[in-house]
Amino acid sequence: MVGQGVLHECLLDPDVERVLAIGRALLGRQHEKLRELVRRDLSDYSDVENELSGFDACFFCLGISSAGMTEEAYRRVTHDLTLAAATTLARLNPGMTFIYVSGAGTDSSERGRSMWARVKGKTENDLLRLPFKAVYMFRPAVIQPLHGVTSRTRSYRLLYFLSGWMLPVLKPLFPKYITTTEQLGRAMLSVAKHGCPKRILESDDINSLKNPG
Ligand SMILES: NC(=O)c1ccc[n+]([C@@H]2O[C@H](COP(=O)([O-])OP(=O)(O)OC[C@H]3O[C@@H](n4cnc5c(N)ncnc54)[C@H](OP(=O)(O)O)[C@@H]3O)[C@@H](O)[C@H]2O)c1
Repeated sequence: MVGQGVLHECLLDPDVERVLAIGRALLGRQHEKLRELVRRDLSDYSDVENELSGFDACFFCLGISSAGMTEEAYRRVTHDLTLAAATTLARLNPGMTFIYVSGAGTDSSERGRSMWARVKGKTENDLLRLPFKAVYMFRPAVIQPLHGVTSRTRSYRLLYFLSGWMLPVLKPLFPKYITTTEQLGRAMLSVAKHGCPKRILESDDINSLKNPG
């Protein structure tokens, strides 16, 4: 959902020359700026490193819900896949800005009671130590999907189906908690192009960034 949102904004943005979308399934989208790299295993990029340099930014949107998962299994996807991609990209693109989508409530101390928040906190902290030009953490809370974007996670799909009509009404009242896939995508582009004084951005920070071009 977040990935589709930022891809939509990248393809519209005249400053973006090309996009390489990496995932385990084809997006099924055709666009002159878009190329896809489909891999079964997103923990190792050693055989495709020649395709991964020359990029200014990475918008890392891979993620899952922790519901019903052990800490180890959740960490393998959330932390290990993120760090595998990020370490490779930092080595190949030292001038890159890396943006990670974590979530509101992420635990930077890595010691709190919430398992998902600890794992995301460790992921953020490890990313902040990598030698990128800059690393930013996006911590959205509720995200309203726009432009036909849908979540790959069934529980989120159901939630958004049931609450979809309410979000546009609630959003102006709760700007600290609600953003849209469009605002997220535009904010990611703004931060990649112009930087941002904050390294960790919550929903209201995200909503205040507009990608002025
Ligand atoms: N949606 C929200 O309201 C919300 C709010 C706050 C934070 N977030 C965070 O934002 C991030 C993105 O969420 P989303 O809503 O965009 O989720 P989503 O629609 O479910 O998309 C997640 C993406 O991650 C990929 N993925 C998951 N597990 C993978 C694995 N083991 N190997 C390879 N790819 C894998 C999925 O691939 P497939 O397409 O192949 O399944 C999918 O493309 C997550 O970290 C989530 O916690 C979301």
